[in-house]
Amino acid sequence: MANIHRLGPIFFIFLLLPLLLQISSVIGDLQLDYYKDSCPRAEEIIKEQVTELYKKHGNTAVSWIRNLFHDCMVQSCDASLLLETKYGVLSEQRSVRSFGMRNFKYVGTIKEALESECPLTVSCADIVALSARDGVVLLGGPEIAMKTGRKDSKESYVAEVEAFIPNHNDTMSLVLSQFQSVGVDTEGTVALFGAHSVGRTHCTILVNRLYPEVDPTLDPDYAEYLKRRCPSPDPDPKAVEYTRNDLETPMVLDNMYYKNLLRHKGLLSVDQQLASDPRTSPFVEKMAADNDYFHEQFSRALAVLSENNPVTGDKGEIRKDCRYVNRD
Ligand code: HEM
Ligand SMILES: *[C@@H]1O[C@H](CO)[C@@H](O)[C@H](O)[C@H]1NC(C)=O
Repeated sequence: MANIHRLGPIFFIFLLLPLLLQISSVIGDLQLDYYKDSCPRAEEIIKEQVTELYKKHGNTAVSWIRNLFHDCMVQSCDASLLLETKYGVLSEQRSVRSFGMRNFKYVGTIKEALESECPLTVSCADIVALSARDGVVLLGGPEIAMKTGRKDSKESYVAEVEAFIPNHNDTMSLVLSQFQSVGVDTEGTVALFGAHSVGRTHCTILVNRLYPEVDPTLDPDYAEYLKRRCPSPDPDPKAVEYTRNDLETPMVLDNMYYKNLLRHKGLLSVDQQLASDPRTSPFVEKMAADNDYFHEQFSRALAVLSENNPVTGDKGEIRKDCRYVNRD
């Protein structure tokens, strides 16, 4: 009799277990196809919109990939990046690290399509994640299984952006430790840099490798080309002087980036360091030689980054307009 009494609480927990598990999926935990009941066409709508936008403005797909990086590194993938300056809070988009970011207005196009089918159901944070996933495919990258169920932040973290997003000339040790802190290992970090296989870099970022002297780790012919693209050592940051990140396949997410690094044609100082640092160079060589391997590692690492510290439950909300927190 006494024994049964002592087991009572244990039986009780066993009875509750299924209920507890169900609650945990309601209050949080990312899962595949989170919207299957609440908005069954959510992922399809996002893919349609991302595809339409890509046809009109190819570089939107590029922006969605950079958005994921900048949103997820800072605190969590919570769409804090999308908040505009309002109510006295400065937008993360105003950080020096966000230099060159573009196409934010088209996030609104995707959100509107979702709102008209399922109002206040799909988070802006999941739009950030899924638009990046679909952008990757349009740019010839791999298919990535990505969980959903993220909530949107109720604040912006502009003061923390510089601590979490590395600068273009930071040391590899700092870069590796920053990625490690969000769960991305060295191999994954090297793969994520492959995003610099698409898009552009403005002259303001590059001139310190060109003037007054050319950085000796830069291929001399390539440096000549870059100097023609960026003739002034002190360009106006508002001028649209830039160069493609990858001259050969500028709109394809492929391993050309790593081949370029091996030829000393990395654009940013951090890019070029990947090829010279003994911790990262073996991965650069492997990725340069094998596009499928690059894609595999890129998928894995992007999924990890997308799951960094998700906001769930009522710590977050589903914004009505991705640019502003909800006000009632
Ligand atoms: C140490 C890490 C990194 C640094 C310092 C860095 C820095 C930069 C800089 C300075 C630009 C050029 C911006 C401009 O002039 O317009 C850029 C572009 C870009 N970055 Fe990164 N980045 C890093 C990692 C990543 C990662 C991990 C991703 C995504 C997985 C990413 C995605 C992109 C994309 C897609 C562009 C092109 C944007 C466009 O054309 O609009 N970057 N990055
Ligand atoms: C890194 O670049 C910034 C500009 O983005 C510049 O102010 C700084 O002096 C550079 N640091 C080094 C060590 O070159």
